[in-house]
Amino acid sequence: MLVSSQFTLSKSPAFIAFEGINGCGKTTLHKRLSAKLVASGHSVCDTREPGGTPLGIEIRKLLLEWSGEKKSSRAELLLFAADRAEHVDKVIRPNLSRGTWVLTDRFIYSTITFQGHGRGIDRQLLDQANALAIQGTVPDLVILLDLAPEEAFKRIASRNSSSRDSFEEEELAFHTRIRDGFLECAKESPVPFLVLDATQTPEELCAEAARACGLSRG
Ligand code: TYD
Repeated sequence: MLVSSQFTLSKSPAFIAFEGINGCGKTTLHKRLSAKLVASGHSVCDTREPGGTPLGIEIRKLLLEWSGEKKSSRAELLLFAADRAEHVDKVIRPNLSRGTWVLTDRFIYSTITFQGHGRGIDRQLLDQANALAIQGTVPDLVILLDLAPEEAFKRIASRNSSSRDSFEEEELAFHTRIRDGFLECAKESPVPFLVLDATQTPEELCAEAARACGLSRG
């Protein structure tokens, strides 16, 4: 469900997911928002998928650094799902239940877009894998950083190219489908999606995200 810039979370602690194409700046926004929440006296767990747990760190290597034969798309889907199941059980739920905010870089919408719009896996299979992994745990808010892939490519090129992962090697058309897929998720999902124009400055983006989290300006 798309929400306006007037949206404010009614829950504290909350579970927030950052989503967007590679190079959209979600990690920078995540760090800034987390620092603001901590400065306001909240306890915050910063995490990510894949790789938010010790098991997930190993799965992440298999997903992003594998140099063997190209993985089956379904095998890839199940590795993301295994990472997510461990993440939900060991990090997301325990932190929320002890009163800690959980901020994650990527969640189920990355599977719907990268494995669905990108790799072409049937949506029903993705929903089954996601449902198995999350067991009903959904974010209170998704912050989607929307950016044209052409712009994201420029940003990635200006970073250290040796750190490029297997998805960043995909062509422009792949990332265009992912971007459109995220915007589709924002419209169709029952979860609130705050869609931000990622060409704004880091300060502007953080101010909008902080507002949505109920943090006062300044
Ligand atoms: P990430 O570390 O967030 O990369 P970036 O910082 O460039 O966004 O994510 C790793 C890659 O894994 C990213 O290219 C997206 C991909 N991915 C999927 O394909 N499906 C998923 O379910 C998730 C969580 C990530």
